[in-house]
Parts: sequence; structure tokens; C-alpha cells
Amino acid sequence: MPEVGTMDLLAGKRALVIGAGSGIGAATAKLFAAQGAAVAVADINVAAAAATASAIGAGPSFGVDITDPEQVRRTVDAAAQTLGGLDIALNTPFVAAAHPDVVGLTPEQFRREWEVLAAGTLYTFQAAIPHLKAGGGGVLLTTSSALFGDYGAYAHPAIIPAYGAAKGAQEMLVKTTATLHARDGIRVCAVQPGFTLTPGAERSMAMQGIDLATFTSVAAAGLPMGAAQPEQIAEGFLFLASDYASYITGFTLLVDGGSYASHFGRMLP
Ligand SMILES: NC(=O)c1ccc[n+]([C@@H]2O[C@H](COP(=O)([O-])OP(=O)(O)OC[C@H]3O[C@@H](n4cnc5c(N)ncnc54)[C@H](O)[C@@H]3O)[C@@H](O)[C@H]2O)c1
Repeated sequence: MPEVGTMDLLAGKRALVIGAGSGIGAATAKLFAAQGAAVAVADINVAAAAATASAIGAGPSFGVDITDPEQVRRTVDAAAQTLGGLDIALNTPFVAAAHPDVVGLTPEQFRREWEVLAAGTLYTFQAAIPHLKAGGGGVLLTTSSALFGDYGAYAHPAIIPAYGAAKGAQEMLVKTTATLHARDGIRVCAVQPGFTLTPGAERSMAMQGIDLATFTSVAAAGLPMGAAQPEQIAEGFLFLASDYASYITGFTLLVDGGSYASHFGRMLP
């Protein structure tokens, strides 16, 4: 991986990352900080958020359940107050779940994915927009998925219909919010990660009865660039958050090592 720690692409920016206690969120919070941003981190796992804040070496951490709009609003307000404003808000929470097919999916299973991914994205955008507007603009970012954002559960035995529906909703929220708030100076984008080695991915595989080591070796052999490290997904967020993406909005960036191009789904076990 290239050494990008000294470029200060986000110098002077103030960022909040919700879901920063693990995986992609933790890696992105660290990269944003390494690139000069003042970063506040939040997670439902308070200790994990504090650990990320401590690894960054500065910045506040907050406990938040992204499914509760009032908690999200309080957290975003507190982060903006502590940082002296807000320029970037990113949400990355993940629910590890094993779901049956469409027919067997329960309302609770569907609601849980919907609340954490789709509603959580809406609540983050709603709470952050007034702060971004107050500062003359900014960037809203969220996390979709390379496999499910476009394909649904294309040709994959581990069908996850609720996850796919929620990811689709996140991407539509990105397009709609980008359209409605472009004149406020707010850009809105998502990243579609490919298969990324995170604690969340490991839990999710285990719940579907898939051994992570086996899956990773199949991915390494079958996907053009194998599995991703969370730091590689963070690089996509860094670009979208930076002023080098100044004319990019309503857009989802695929960061998947060629998985989509090679029909990812057909290569899985
Ligand atoms: N890992 C992959 O292969 C992969 C692939 C495509 C997309 N994604 C997406 O990337 C995002 C991050 O996934 P990850 O693999 O880093 O997961 P992860 O489980 O490693 O990290 C997710 C973090 O979100 C936090 N969280 C969970 N529920 C929350 C809630 N209600 N409120 C606040 N925080 C909450 C967790 O405590 C955890 O710290 C997710 O949206 C996931 O769908 C991951």
C-alpha cells in the first residue's frame, strides 16, 4: 500500500465517523486523522470508540445507537460543538446476521437491517446537514456494498435480502440528498467495499456457517485482487471527503479490487 500518511488531504476539516469502533469505520477515522482532519468518533460500543480515539491520539469519542434519531442528533451536535463545526460526516455501522431467503425472512430481521443501515444513514444525514450548511457546505458519506448495492444477492448462496434492500436504500438516499442539497455546498457519496477483512465480516461469515479462513483463501484465489484490508476501503472515503472530489456528488465509488468486474458472486463458495 502507498504511504499516504503525510499528505494532509483533510487539513482543517472536522469529521465525525459513526461506527468507528471497528473495521472500515476505525480505519477511516484513523486515515482521516492522519490526513490532517480533527476527528470525532462514535459507536454503539463505547469502549471500541474510545480505543479508536486513543489510537488517533486526539478527538472526542461518543457512545451512540444509530437506530435512535435523538441519540444521533445529540451525538452529531456534541461532535460539532467539540470540534468547532463539522465538515464531514460518515456512517459505517454493520449488523452481522444470518438470514434465510426472502420467504423465511422475519419482520424483525428486516427491520434490524433497515434501522441500522438505511434509517441510520437518514438520521446521520438529517443531524449533520444543519452543521454542514452553517459552515458553508461539507461532505456526507455512507457505506454501501459491492456485492449487494447493485447485484442484490446475485448468484450467491448466502442470500441476504434484508441487507441488500437496506444497501439499495442507502444508495438512493445518497442520490436524493445530493440532489436536494447541492446548492447548500453539500456533496453526498457512498463507497461500495468489496470483501474486506474486518471483525464484522468474520462474525457475519461465522453466522452463515462459512469459515473465514476458507472464504478468504477462495477470495484470494478467485477475486482479481483478493480480499481488501479496511485501510484500502478508507482510501476511497478519503478521496471522496477531500477537495479533490469537489465536483463529485450523488455517486457511489466501487472499492473492490475488481470484484464487480469479474462477477464476484460467481466465484464465491
Ligand atoms: N467487511 C466487508 O466485507 C464489507 C463489505 C461491504 C460492505 N461493508 C459495509 O461496511 C460497513 C462497515 O462494516 P465492517 O465490516 O467494518 O463492520 P464491523 O462490524 O467490523 O464494524 C462496524 C461497527 O459498527 C458498530 N455498530 C453496530 N451497530 C451500531 C449501531 N446501532 N450504532 C452505532 N454503531 C454500531 C459496531 O459496534 C462496530 O464497531 C457496513 O456498513 C458494512 O455493511 C462491509
